[in-house]
Amino acid sequence: MTTAIIVGAQWGDEGKGKIVDLFTPNADYVVRFQGGANAGHTLVINGEKTVLHLLPSGVLHPNVHCIIGNGVVIDPKACMDEITELQKRHLIQDPEKLSISPNAHVVMPYHRQIDQLREAQLGDAKIGTTGRGIGPCYEDKVARTGIRMAELIDEKRLRKRLEKILPIKNKYIERMLDGEPLDLEAIIREYAILGRSLAPYVRDVSADLARACAQKKHVLFEGAQGTALDVDHGTYPYVTSSTTVASGACSGSGVGPTMVDEVWGISKAYCTRVGSGPFPTELNNGTGEMLQKKGGEFGATTGRPRRCGWLDLFGLQYAARVNGLTGLVMTKLDVLSGFKTLSVATGYQKDGKPIANFPNDPTELDACTPIYTELPGWEEDVSLVRDINDLPQTARNYLKFVEDYLGIPITLVSVGPGREACIPLKKLF
Ligand code: GDP
Ligand code: IMO
Ligand code: MG
Repeated sequence: MTTAIIVGAQWGDEGKGKIVDLFTPNADYVVRFQGGANAGHTLVINGEKTVLHLLPSGVLHPNVHCIIGNGVVIDPKACMDEITELQKRHLIQDPEKLSISPNAHVVMPYHRQIDQLREAQLGDAKIGTTGRGIGPCYEDKVARTGIRMAELIDEKRLRKRLEKILPIKNKYIERMLDGEPLDLEAIIREYAILGRSLAPYVRDVSADLARACAQKKHVLFEGAQGTALDVDHGTYPYVTSSTTVASGACSGSGVGPTMVDEVWGISKAYCTRVGSGPFPTELNNGTGEMLQKKGGEFGATTGRPRRCGWLDLFGLQYAARVNGLTGLVMTKLDVLSGFKTLSVATGYQKDGKPIANFPNDPTELDACTPIYTELPGWEEDVSLVRDINDLPQTARNYLKFVEDYLGIPITLVSVGPGREACIPLKKLF
């Protein structure tokens, strides 16, 4: 086995960063393939917290090669800030250890501005984006009016593209969004410098990855966001603007699907969502508040409180299908200690009748209510457990129930934010 994709199986923030960091010691490459600085991946090592937005979560291990694939949208300022912070910690000393695809699109200041102005205009109907310019950047990519890394690092090309694009963006910002126009020369000054700083990292990552796969190197693909936020398979329009499911790893980095060996989904032992949109198992009560408090459920990028609810196995079954999951990692099992009973959604009903498949359409979802199965909880603190046999029987039953329902193995259980807080059940590499 040489390549594995890690994806969020819910609405993001499942703990992907922690899990990627955990498996990095045995990986040769760690690859981000979609999303941008909307992601916030938290790593806690010896009590020290690091939040990564753009750089792959393997970056704290100096020997691994980190890659930002063509499917990622890169805010060059956010990227340079992150690199500089890590360099202060003596990481990313060798530019050969971080590769950025020349085809990755660049998040420009007008993307952020358009994102924020549009959300403000939408009022209550807003998507609840992170305001990082992600949607408008992907729009430009598909409209063929985007700027790519290859252009950012070449001032002449950057100027030529911006002279065409900016007047149109400014018109849109002023006339449609009542915003302030941006100054061409100011952008070129700032972005040409950023381009020069990032140039040493820009190289053909698809060719590097093909060579790595041919040499049977271990490649770990790190998803951002989660399945229910996928632009096609999520709860559209309450989604992000990229392909968050496993197939995005191929198009977002330039490797073929025959190269992929394992796909592991990451799920919390319960469920959270940041931003607007349907959330069938949401708990707008004391139990939801307890999950939020015990789980420290505040966004790693925006600090917004995360909405909380019970584990949704019907939703996870859908995630298993659209990602082709071969394994499931369950995080935050420690947060469930102290609940007398735990509910898990094992189906949805509409007009009093169970439905066959998870409906990703928000109107359909609003018309559905979850069908719950109640399972006994446990009182014990499990955060120091490192062997599955040391978990309380009711916690083991909870895990077994999930495995049996989904028909895929749980490959690892996480019981705390720290790197060491886990119960490994299957080796990845
Ligand atoms: P990501 O976006 O999927 O990488 O997840 P985030 O970093 O946004 O959110 C996950 C949060 O849960 C972070 O604060 C992690 O430190 C924390 N975390 C991860 N795994 C566990 C766990 O097993 N137990 C607890 N209590 N916290 C965890
Ligand atoms: P990680 O990788 C959770 C959500 C936003 C919003 C929607 C669209 O840390 O799991 P966007 O800014 O992408 O246009 O916002 O997607 N969202 C996330 N939610 N975790 C994330 O990333 C997210 N990235 C975006 O809250 O609902
Ligand atoms: Mg996150």
